Amino acid sequence: MPSHPLPPLGAFPRTRLRRNRRDDWSRRLVAEARLSVDDLIWPVFVSEGTNAATPIPSMPGVERLTVDRLVGAVERAARLGIPMVALFPYVEAARKTDETSEAVNPDNLMCRAVRAIKAAKLDIGVMCDVALDPYTPHGHDGLLRDNTIVNDETVAVLCQQALVQARAGCDVIAPSDMMDGRIGAVRAALDDAGLQHVRVLAYAAKYASAFYGPFRDAVGSAKTLGGASKSTYQMDSANSNEALREVALDIAEGADMVMVKPGMAYLDIVRRVKDAFGMPTYAYQVSGEYAMLKAAALNGWLDWDRVILESLLAFKRAGADGILSYAAFEVADRLNRARS
Ligand code: PBG
Repeated sequence: MPSHPLPPLGAFPRTRLRRNRRDDWSRRLVAEARLSVDDLIWPVFVSEGTNAATPIPSMPGVERLTVDRLVGAVERAARLGIPMVALFPYVEAARKTDETSEAVNPDNLMCRAVRAIKAAKLDIGVMCDVALDPYTPHGHDGLLRDNTIVNDETVAVLCQQALVQARAGCDVIAPSDMMDGRIGAVRAALDDAGLQHVRVLAYAAKYASAFYGPFRDAVGSAKTLGGASKSTYQMDSANSNEALREVALDIAEGADMVMVKPGMAYLDIVRRVKDAFGMPTYAYQVSGEYAMLKAAALNGWLDWDRVILESLLAFKRAGADGILSYAAFEVADRLNRARS
């Protein structure tokens, strides 16, 4: 007989979870989730002009780059090992029209930016947003008829927009508009044009979120949109089962990869989507998430270097295969330095 009664197996004091946490080597050995440079997608804002970088006040540290500056920045990102950049255009007010002709102009800012990057022959993917909000005078992602965002007519324009971007050399078409049926329509349009190799990353579960505020400053749609809501096409933040339906439809329509957006407030959705479908699943740490961490850090209230890594690791733990983050460039740089 032992001198003291045995506790139930697996219980304290025989089991002490702090043992594995005692040393750095042992914490590394048992670590479950990992953040690597390969997980990062870097969103970049592009503007007209030459040799300019314009700071975005609500996103300290983020700038809009002219195409010439963009190429250098993407080259440095490729050198850091970042697998993909995501481009977003700042479209001048004069080019915004109700019929969004600039969105389908093969010489628009996005297409010129893609061609310039591709001409540099870098080992990095280029992803382009497909949505009409930078091109409409009202800031909505679709065409507005009698005060309604019309679905099918918008989808037809989105297909044309995807085609001009893909023909310019875009590797990954990313519809962020949340119209019904756009993934299938875009896939068919690409295939019919002989662009079977172009991938589609669907903003599959995209919520109508107040966390997009600083992005709308960055692309100049904050003023055009005013206080208008996107809740007739983007999802209600109350919903979770509906996200699975959105993702299921996008997969059925031919999406190669799916995304959940925003990020940190929607990690439960990331986990459900990854578990349900096992698809390449991405999450977007959106502008408002970047801004709030940055603002707190600039006030001395949070340690930026630590919170940004912790926030990105949370996406990996939730099941994301990769994360779009405005901090991708500096985080990639830090991860590389930590290894060498
Ligand atoms: C536009 C688009 C938005 C974002 C990416 N594409 C904003 C919106 O839907 O209003 C948000 C990105 C961010 O906040 O960082 N279709």
